[in-house]
Amino acid sequence: MKKIFIFGFVFLTHIGHAQEIDVDKVVRTSEAQVRLLLEEARRQADPKRVSPRTLDGDGHLVLVPPSDWTSGFFAGVLWQLYGFTGDRNWQDEARKATATLAGEKYNGRTHDMGFKIYCSFGQGYRLTDDTAYRNVIVKAAQTLATRFNPVVGCIRSWDHNSHRWDFPVIIDNMLNLELLFAATRLTGDSSFYDIAVSHANTTLINHFRPDGGSYHVVDYDPETGQVEHRNTHQGYSDSSTWARGQAWALYGYTLCYRETNDERYRQKAVDIARWLMDHPHMPADGIPYWDFDAPNISAEPRDASAAAVIASALYELSTLVAEGDAFRGFADHIIHSLATAYTAPAGTHHGFILLHSTGSRPADSEVDVPLIYADYYFLEALGRKAGAALHLSD
Ligand code: GLY
Repeated sequence: MKKIFIFGFVFLTHIGHAQEIDVDKVVRTSEAQVRLLLEEARRQADPKRVSPRTLDGDGHLVLVPPSDWTSGFFAGVLWQLYGFTGDRNWQDEARKATATLAGEKYNGRTHDMGFKIYCSFGQGYRLTDDTAYRNVIVKAAQTLATRFNPVVGCIRSWDHNSHRWDFPVIIDNMLNLELLFAATRLTGDSSFYDIAVSHANTTLINHFRPDGGSYHVVDYDPETGQVEHRNTHQGYSDSSTWARGQAWALYGYTLCYRETNDERYRQKAVDIARWLMDHPHMPADGIPYWDFDAPNISAEPRDASAAAVIASALYELSTLVAEGDAFRGFADHIIHSLATAYTAPAGTHHGFILLHSTGSRPADSEVDVPLIYADYYFLEALGRKAGAALHLSD
């Protein structure tokens, strides 16, 4: 039995807790927003642009094609709402949005398979047991595995900017490992698991500075596996810590620990969690600036998407480690801030839930805007707060 309808549960169990929010109310508000987002997306959608991502500089809704790295999050938002409510309408909408992405299982030109397929088909499978979804997950993992280079020990992230990088691996890539772990569980074929572990181990060695901050991009020599460059793409500088990158790192090592029980991953996840919670540039409300080393720190744009990813990861980590209470407490603090000070007023912003995220500050792109992945991880965090199942079972 995989259906986990948790609407109302937190309302009963967490009411009265310090800094507590009424999850029931937040979910209802989110449902109303997403109904609006659905309507607007339906009005604009065409076969090439299927999934809402953000708002442009004029406040217009931006839809993206299935190949965009964010395409799976809208379906994921719809699945999350189905998970909260058990409402068949949300399942129907989630199925429709998920179906538009099926062709991506063959797209081997990017590493973003986990984001696209696990957040859509993966969540659908978690909630419905649909074997057609299972088959898409497995095919997608096979495609992703073609980007693995055993000499480097990693999955290649990007093919673009080949004049700059030979074999770029970005910290975000840790999220794609969840799809590989799931594929091994679903098929019994350990090769996906082995690739995920190799990628996590190599990243552990090469992607972190002695102070615990992460590099965004590590470029490898594909023939020797040696590190050639350590750069940023969306952060402030090559030696700074991009907030969402550090959030991806926390989420990635938390899921790796859940999947493997490897003590090194537990330690890394705990170290990153403490790094984030103790950082002198972490604002009092727990919503990071877009980069921890950005120059005008108290005036820099925030990144609510990083905060949502951190909260979701901390809820999971809190269930896996001894110091769980502190991590859960910080996640509660973030969620309280997001729910009370970062949500869009009802009926505005085309139906996005959260405001104040930053996509790429260096490119001056998507700065202080809603982003669909902020909404996805916000809802996932609320679900984890409420005790929903964390991953696919076989
Ligand atoms: N994975 C791309 C980003 O976090 O912006």
